[in-house]
Amino acid sequence: MRSFARPGTVSVKNAAKLQAMRAAGRLASECLAWILAQVEPGMCTLDLDDLQMQFAKKHGVRPAPLGYKGFPRSICTSINEVICHGIPKATDVLREGDIVGIDVTLVVEEMHGDNAATIPVGQVEESTMRLLATTLAAQRAGIQAIVPGARVGDIGHAIQSIAEPRGYSVVRDFVGHGVGRRFHEDPQIPHYGSPGRGLRLRPGMTFTVEPMINQGVAGAEIQGDGWTALTADRQLSAQYEHTLEVTEEGVRVLTVRNDEGHWEPPGGYWPEGFGDSA
Ligand code: MF3
Ligand code: CO
Ligand code: CO
Repeated sequence: MRSFARPGTVSVKNAAKLQAMRAAGRLASECLAWILAQVEPGMCTLDLDDLQMQFAKKHGVRPAPLGYKGFPRSICTSINEVICHGIPKATDVLREGDIVGIDVTLVVEEMHGDNAATIPVGQVEESTMRLLATTLAAQRAGIQAIVPGARVGDIGHAIQSIAEPRGYSVVRDFVGHGVGRRFHEDPQIPHYGSPGRGLRLRPGMTFTVEPMINQGVAGAEIQGDGWTALTADRQLSAQYEHTLEVTEEGVRVLTVRNDEGHWEPPGGYWPEGFGDSA
């Protein structure tokens, strides 16, 4: 989400709400995996939106983006130099060598599950795979920083520490966010930060970690449609997002299709250890 300057209160969720969050996270993850598995050269991004509509109908749930602050479609589809919030269109056709980010948010039992991943369309350049692997590794490091006593700044610091030494930049204009009955709530989770700084994480908080990592400069430009965010230099950008719950022990990834709490993206499309050596 776009970063905002508004101090607010951070909710700690009760057991019933956390149960609903888990259901929402799991279904969002199933939906994302199901859409990702169908991505092929020649499809348009509106086809992907249609898949989301089908899934939501079948499961009797609502896709949160549709109508959110005027967003016209049910998922976000962000090709190549689009950082985030791309609007599905019949004229945006996926070509071999592209990358596409798909961001799914479903409302289940009144709670939001928010899950995104970027995947290659067919074969892509080695340097593009390296961007994806680094972004995934950065997201994982950010999630692993969520331990008892940690602060929000530890998450962003961990993400920066993976991405920047490898020559990439971390987008600052969009941040992770608290998520629950509302799509976007406090706290904001920047994907950059200083260790030991910021809000202290407490069990029962639920928020996203969704780093956007750029090949070139960090800057973003919003297009005339009011949504599509492009990299300022038109180089590639990738993003992975999970919805997370802070627990007594550390963290639970809610956007997984089982309760194992792993943080690989859904669908099993990454080889074992992919991203570790990026
Ligand atoms: N799912 C996005 C996020 O991760 C928000 C999309 S807002 C929309 O926060 F309106 F474009 F759907
Ligand atoms: Co989000
Ligand atoms: Co999202």
